[in-house]
Amino acid sequence: MTALKEAAAKKALDYILPNLEPETVIGIGTGSTSEIFIDLLATHKNLFKGTVSSSKRSTKRLEGVGIKVFDVNEVNDVAYYVDGADECDSNHNLIKGGGGAHTKEKILANIAKEFLCIIDSSKLVSKLGAFGVPIEVFHEARSFASREIIKLGGTPELRIGVVTESNNPIVDIKNLVINDPIIMEASINKIPGVVDNGIFAIRKPNKVFVGE
Ligand code: 5RP
Repeated sequence: MTALKEAAAKKALDYILPNLEPETVIGIGTGSTSEIFIDLLATHKNLFKGTVSSSKRSTKRLEGVGIKVFDVNEVNDVAYYVDGADECDSNHNLIKGGGGAHTKEKILANIAKEFLCIIDSSKLVSKLGAFGVPIEVFHEARSFASREIIKLGGTPELRIGVVTESNNPIVDIKNLVINDPIIMEASINKIPGVVDNGIFAIRKPNKVFVGE
């Protein structure tokens, strides 16, 4: 599986390399595929300005290979956002958040001019949902949001022993039938106390690079 992730990361790198300039800032996702991308990017660190990161885990990896990481609030333009996914359908709608970082990931995906998704072929699905949909919720809303999720047809499962970098719990929604990913993404986010959910359909990737 690592070879397939590496193949996807290499495709994204080949896509961005000709366009890197001294002022280019690249957004970096979270997860094992993103970490492979970071390691590949390290060789070219002198060709661009630096990165913005979706997690402490990725920041540590970036700084470890000598790539500059900026606070996202101090950056005006992010040329690319490169990240993995847990599921990807044929319309390039995604489920993310297996690593619990989907809220920050979605912020960077929206800021970036181009969102590049890097996945191994096992992530391709005909319909989103089997992985489950992670939602980040405020502590105070955990039970209420879970009851609302049941009304949407899902089965909420608290991710035990895990909080996000903003110290919020994650509830994974199982058994959700996602006929329209855009509507489902918006419906879940309308529940008071939900910070964000792991469906990326409203801002989906511009390109998906699959390692096969
Ligand atoms: C983290 C994510 C990851 O992109 C997703 O879980 C895929 O991870 P990996 O590249 O390790 O398969 O959304 O929140």
